[in-house]
Amino acid sequence: MARIAVVAGDGIGPEVVAQALKVLDAVLPGVEATEYDLGAARYHRTGEVLPDSVLTELAGHDAILLGAVGDPTVPPGVLERGLLLKLRFAFDQYVNLRPSRLWPGVAGPLATVKPGEVDLVVVREGTEGLYAGAGGSLHRDTPAEVATEESLNTRHGVERVVRDAFARAGRRERRKVTLVHKTNVLTHAGSLWARTFAAVAAEHPDVDTEYQHVDAAAMFLVTQPQRYDVVVTDNLFGDILTDIAAAVTGGIGLAASGCINPTGAYPSMFEPVHGSAPDIAGKGVADPVAAVLSAALLLDQLGHPDAAARVTGAVAAELAARTPGAPLRTDEVGDRLAAQAVA
Ligand code: NAD
Ligand code: IPM
Ligand code: MN
Repeated sequence: MARIAVVAGDGIGPEVVAQALKVLDAVLPGVEATEYDLGAARYHRTGEVLPDSVLTELAGHDAILLGAVGDPTVPPGVLERGLLLKLRFAFDQYVNLRPSRLWPGVAGPLATVKPGEVDLVVVREGTEGLYAGAGGSLHRDTPAEVATEESLNTRHGVERVVRDAFARAGRRERRKVTLVHKTNVLTHAGSLWARTFAAVAAEHPDVDTEYQHVDAAAMFLVTQPQRYDVVVTDNLFGDILTDIAAAVTGGIGLAASGCINPTGAYPSMFEPVHGSAPDIAGKGVADPVAAVLSAALLLDQLGHPDAAARVTGAVAAELAARTPGAPLRTDEVGDRLAAQAVA
């Protein structure tokens, strides 16, 4: 039976993860879920963010389900870098998979787009780029202060994520991959991405390709999200574009993601795209659908496509029955989804 490590984390993380666990338990009875106490509370209590011994234990699981990390009482970056990015990097989760669908029944904000018309997936590079942590600062807190942040792009890192995007596109109906970058300005990394993309594209004559600069892609995601199938892009562009994609498909409360290590050498990690939402934490009003759909991605990755389909079916029923704008209770949505998934 699958062994899942659970890192509920901060803010609404534990609230939404509890619902995802309810649903997982319903569709995969006997799934073994071990909770790990990591995040702001542990940091305040012990000063620890992610002890090596915990990292080693996490590595022994089949997958990780994560809620959200980050808290206003902890300096920015301590938990985001020290916990979340450390996991993504240590477990070489180089495919950050972020699907966006405009589900029937969901009121998207765009008058030009009808439910069912948007079904795209962003394959965000997950281990490199501006997230690599290269750079530094000089003359801190003086008028001469300088800070640099370098984007790390390796042929190996770019090629493997581009290959993943083409493989995914080959399994989808529209078979199209859009490379998003900023080759007109970021000429070093942009050239590496463009050349790698062209080389991999040549091996996939059955897949259509296009290139867009990231600023144009941000615009087209809002004006014509229907045009996208698979989008492959670097770490930071993917971070920003997937919040836009979430916004145009019913909001961040519905956006799921998987931080995937396709080789299986390390566990993959599944988490909502959203963060800890301090503004609504503790109120029981966070939408757990993003966490539940992330659990569906987990089920797919672990080889349980039928269970995954039951979860997405339950989400479809839930969303179709919602009244747009009506308030929701996190635990009630979780109860309904768990019941529907086994109905
Ligand atoms: P956020 O995603 O937490 O919140 C942005 C807005 O979306 C807020 O108004 C929030 O209430 C709303 N929202 C988010 N999830 C929701 C849900 N499930 N249902 C309803 N509304 C929801 O982003 P932020 O405010 O920029 O960041 C807050 C903290 O979370 C920061 O510490 C940040 O670093 C961290 N963060 C963590 C992750 C992660 O763990 N993967 C992702 C993003 C941000
Ligand atoms: C996300 C988040 C993270 C990211 C942060 C919290 C490190 O915004 O998962 O989208 O930038 O990847
Ligand atoms: Mn983000």
